[in-house]
Amino acid sequence: MNEQQQIEALRRELEQHNYNYYVLSSPTITDKEFDDMMHRLQELEAAHPECYDPNSPTQRVGSDLTKEFAQVEHRYPMLSLANTYSEAEVRDWYERVRKGLNESFDVVCELKYDGTSISLWYEQGKLLRAVTRGDGVKGDDVTANVKTIRSIPLRLQGDYPLQVEIRGEVLMPWAVFEALNKEREAQEEPLFANPRNAASGTIKLQNPALVAERNLDAYLYYVLGENLPSDLHSENLMAARSWGIKVSENFRVCHSVDEIMEYIAYWDAERKNLPVATDGIVLKVNSLRQQRTLGLTAKSPRWAIAYKFQAEQACTRLNSVSYQVGRTGAVTPVANLDPVQLSGTVVKRASLHNADIIASLDLHIGDMVYVEKGGEIIPKITGVDKDARLLIGDKVTFIKKCPECGAELIRYEGEAAHYCPNEAACPPQIKGKIEHFVARKAMDIDGLGTETIALLYENGLLHNMADIYDLKVPDLARLERLGLKSAQNIKRACEASRNVPFERVLFALGIRFVGETTAKKIAYALHDIDRIMSATVEELMTVDEVGERIARSVVEYFSQPVNREIVERLRAYGLQMALSEEKLASRTEKLQGLSIVISGTFALHSREEYKEMIERNGGKNVGSVSSKTDYILAGENMGPAKLEKAQKLGVKIIDEQQFLQMLEE
Ligand code: IVH
Repeated sequence: MNEQQQIEALRRELEQHNYNYYVLSSPTITDKEFDDMMHRLQELEAAHPECYDPNSPTQRVGSDLTKEFAQVEHRYPMLSLANTYSEAEVRDWYERVRKGLNESFDVVCELKYDGTSISLWYEQGKLLRAVTRGDGVKGDDVTANVKTIRSIPLRLQGDYPLQVEIRGEVLMPWAVFEALNKEREAQEEPLFANPRNAASGTIKLQNPALVAERNLDAYLYYVLGENLPSDLHSENLMAARSWGIKVSENFRVCHSVDEIMEYIAYWDAERKNLPVATDGIVLKVNSLRQQRTLGLTAKSPRWAIAYKFQAEQACTRLNSVSYQVGRTGAVTPVANLDPVQLSGTVVKRASLHNADIIASLDLHIGDMVYVEKGGEIIPKITGVDKDARLLIGDKVTFIKKCPECGAELIRYEGEAAHYCPNEAACPPQIKGKIEHFVARKAMDIDGLGTETIALLYENGLLHNMADIYDLKVPDLARLERLGLKSAQNIKRACEASRNVPFERVLFALGIRFVGETTAKKIAYALHDIDRIMSATVEELMTVDEVGERIARSVVEYFSQPVNREIVERLRAYGLQMALSEEKLASRTEKLQGLSIVISGTFALHSREEYKEMIERNGGKNVGSVSSKTDYILAGENMGPAKLEKAQKLGVKIIDEQQFLQMLEE
């Protein structure tokens, strides 16, 4: 066997082992043997770049290359399902189908997996593209990320159609989800509320290598195409399984509504033993011909429906309510409960959300309350068992003063939350602002996590963001848990942050409503901090995408002497307080007034860079093609539907070279 043949043989063999392990859950070799085989393949591929294959098993480790996702139009729109919550509603649906068909029919019952939906497009048996649901018409091309999911075959086996779309759910198994959250807690990163959010967050990461580490899984439940093996959905699922696709074992063909009810009752209890989250049952008319007869409504098919499980409830005593103050000053009420078992964990606290919710529950201390977990990690109180009230305790009323600093709370018009307005002296707000200041997208000062900031604050070394630059290595090193090395690293990161561009400094200040993009817009329009500090509401409102709410917030921020003082200190430390000469000089009006859509993937610059170039040259980067679009900057893999629309509207399509040429001229 020559090396090319060895490569091909290893690929086949590794694919088979992947399948045995991730789809069948019955590996036939040890992990070590698998890894050795993978290494051998990597070596051979490195020696033979001409044998590159994007669908080789080596591609599953993911590369570090990041690029924004291209938007892709779905060949068949991705509809959602109508939800039902009771047996009666399911029976109603069954009746409607019976009347609509006027002949006998079967219903396939499946578990409703609670992850994020994905569409896989296979051509000649090769995974060509994986796209998220998006808005149902078009989604993000997340192929590189999906390739890291080991249970999704990169090449089909057996007798598959030449073109086929397979849809299903990308999931994060409970065990992976819990481990991930534990790790995030240790790293002081925000936790994912549930496996669904974790799965959809992960599939949208810009770094496939990170996705690969997250160990996602997938179940596929829908086969679409022109030449399907059967008229029966259930048969197509079986066929897909024979192609190597992971189809759940747990679907069942039901011949009557009673069988459907049995299935629902069985899985309502049994689902708790599954390794992944489910939130209901999906019912589908089995025959594709009958599906076509029934057709669709605007949003969902008539031939399918979802039955959602009731969230699990527990009843326990409310002992007290405490209040937490977040970094923006928002005050969250939290119920402290008698510990109670709920969906496998002990619950002691539950969110009460806001004053309106407390009032509508008519809560009293000592009440027996119902708690639910509905897929979320933080349980919530959904009701009170008023019959269980023996003695009525104190009525729960929302506090008037901040529990952290004593300031009078305020409630902005139209908002549900109460706020502590004492931004400059309320401890959790100060700490929160500092956390925001050092965040990666702001000043990017590594080494200052939530706990370290709290430690420095409590030791009197930090009162506001400007103090960060006054920190001395010996002071830091003396603190418990830090040590000399971390202290030096923090100091170095502070020094380095002097080069952070002005637009990010502006964002780092943490002005209410001024996010990353808004900060950029304001910086580009007004150039330096002095002009921004003295700008009026009207002036600010001339900036693209800045409305009255944002403009007022900026003016209000700089009207406070404490904030001006912070800016002056930051300026004195050498932070960037104006757009760099280079950025200013490179600003042109070459694209003034032009609306440009970016589509596809590019070779010379990232999408983010092109966006920046458009804006820097006076143009506007817009999301979708319309009659107002002047150009489409098209890379590879531009969606066919977008292309068609552009041609119909007569929008000019240019490639990278042509675009860069326009800027050269
Ligand atoms: S079938 C037209 N089957 O639930 C039929 N969906 O609102 C389309 N889901 O977005 C979906 N498990 O992400 C189907 N066994 C299953 C499912 C399932 C989970 C999700 C899917 C879809 C949503 C329905």
